[in-house]
Parts: sequence; structure tokens; C-alpha cells
Amino acid sequence: MSTKRLTIRRPDDWHVHLRDGAMLKAVAEYTARQFARAIVMPNLSPPVTDTASAAAYHERILAALPEDADFTPLMTCYLTDATDPDEVARGFEAGVFTAAKLYPANATTNSAHGVTAIDKIMPVLERMADIGMTLCVHGEVTTPDIDVFDREAVFIERSMAPLMRELPELRVVFEHVTTSEAVQFVERAGENVAATITPQHLHINRNAMLVGGIRPHAYCLPVAKREQHRLALRKAATSGSEKFFLGTDTAPHARHLKEAACGCAGIFNAPFALESYVAVFDAEGALDKFEAFASENGPRFYRLPLNEGTVTLEQAPVEVPAEITAEGETLVPFHAGETLGWRLA
Ligand code: DOR
Ligand code: ZN
Repeated sequence: MSTKRLTIRRPDDWHVHLRDGAMLKAVAEYTARQFARAIVMPNLSPPVTDTASAAAYHERILAALPEDADFTPLMTCYLTDATDPDEVARGFEAGVFTAAKLYPANATTNSAHGVTAIDKIMPVLERMADIGMTLCVHGEVTTPDIDVFDREAVFIERSMAPLMRELPELRVVFEHVTTSEAVQFVERAGENVAATITPQHLHINRNAMLVGGIRPHAYCLPVAKREQHRLALRKAATSGSEKFFLGTDTAPHARHLKEAACGCAGIFNAPFALESYVAVFDAEGALDKFEAFASENGPRFYRLPLNEGTVTLEQAPVEVPAEITAEGETLVPFHAGETLGWRLA
């Protein structure tokens, strides 16, 4: 049997957490090695809420990378109840912001300053709709009456569907979808609504987190759901629909902060992200759909040029290390200790 090889246009990652300081230095190269561009999440502490702080963060990201890195960070604005529509528009028109991010308050890591009710930011969203700026949405309700596994589906009913009725032209990326409900919502919405899908939600269901012991390195938000949802995500990602594209949600936390009584949410999947995704497309018999998912649907949605250049993946065993250390940080990558079937050539 001959080795399968796949050459695709250089891909982008439409959802990453690059952090700051030593962690930024430790992790940025993993994303820059695989992707030409990435949408960088603004949930630093304090969050990136204005143009000046986004421009400064952009510079810190470039400074953390080797001189010869060919990587463009695309910055986002963290929305709060107090966000000024003029500031968002100014940052977008200046080319500093590519998108703005809606975190419902307290949904996830560093989201305490997030939005308490969508009504509070309607003037911002109206302005974004006017200027064609994309809203990236963390789609989970945070009220204590809702079970954590239902947070995404309830968000669609309570927030996302009403928002799209009110502002049908707003460009929205439903980030890191984890349920069949979200897949269906995106499929039925207008072409101004798309979604990113992470590698972990294509590979694992909630059993990976809870069977045989509690496994903190499989914990992220939104949390992995039942098997039926994983299968719906695999179908959507490999369907060829231009509404779904690659967004890893790589979210590094130091090993000791994950292996704790109250462990942080997030999976560090940047080191083997393409290898992880392509294994799914191969298993689904959909290698011919991988280039669109990884390299075309995202830039088309964001109205950015497609990348020049290519990357080649080939079928060959690659061992994922048990941990990665850099800059004094110890991190456990997604698939730690496993052997993946594809590698970057
Ligand atoms: O698991 C997650 N980690 N989900 C998020 O939404 C945020 C992220 C982080 O920043 O750690
Ligand atoms: Zn994220």
C-alpha cells in the first residue's frame, strides 16, 4: 500500500488563545509553525478591550516569535457591557481588529468582564452589522439553573436565535460548536452565520473526561458532549459545507493548573493540530474536503485573501509526547502519549 499524501493550501486557525508573557513565548511557535494566520482571542487578564491594547498585544505576539516566522495574528476586541461602538469601529477600520468576541459573563477563562445581557451591547452589534465586522460568539448560557451539558443548546434558544432575528445581517461565527443543535442552527441560518470546530470535539465525547477516573486534560469549555453530538460535528466538518471551518481553540494552561482540585478549562492542541484534524477527515473518507475546511472556508467568511503556499501531510506514525516544556512552563498536549497516523511532511 502506498503512503497517502495530501497537499493543501496553507491553512489558518480561526480561534486560538496565545496568552501573554512566558506562556506566549512557550506556545506561539506551535501555532505559527502550522498556520499562516490565526484569530487571537482577547481573554487576557486584563482583557483586550480597545484598539491600543490590541495593537500592543499584536506586537508582543510578533516579538515572541522567531524573526523568520511567517505568521499574522488577527486581533479581536473583548466586548463588555461598557464597550463603545465607536472604539470597535475605529479599530476595525484601522485594520487592528478583525473581529469582536462575545463572552457571556463568567462563561469561561477570564470572562468575568464579559457581557451580562446581549441587550447591553446592541448599539455595538448594530454598528458591527453596518460595517460588516464579524462577531465571534462563545455560545453558552451561564445561569445556574442550566445543566453544564445544556448550556450551548439553551444559548441558541435564549440568545443566538433572538439576536439573529433582530440583526439578521450581522456576521457571526458560532465558535467551537459542540452539539447537533448548534450544527443545525448554523446550517439553517443565512450565509452570514458560520462555525468553527475544534479537533477535540471531533475526537472525544464526554466519556473521555469521566470514564475510569477524572481526566483534566480532556476538559475544555464548552465541555465535550454525548457521542451523538460528536458524530454530528464530524459530519458537519467533513460535509464540504462552507459554513464550517478550522478553529482549534488551543487553550494552554500549565499542567499543575489543570491537574488541580478546580482545574482550568482548555486543551492545548496547537502542537499536533493539523495531524489531529486530518486523521478525522481520513477516517471519514473525506480527505478531499480537508483543504476547504482548513484553508478556504475561513478566509472566505472573513473576506480575507486565501494564503499562498502549501503544506503537505503524509500518512506516517507520529508519537505525541507526554508533555512539552518551554519557558519554564509544563504543558500536556492534546493526544499526549498517543500515536497519530499523519504527520507534517
Ligand atoms: O476551554 C476553554 N478554554 N474554553 C474557553 O472558552 C476559554 C479557554 C481558555 O482561555 O482557557
Ligand atoms: Zn476559546
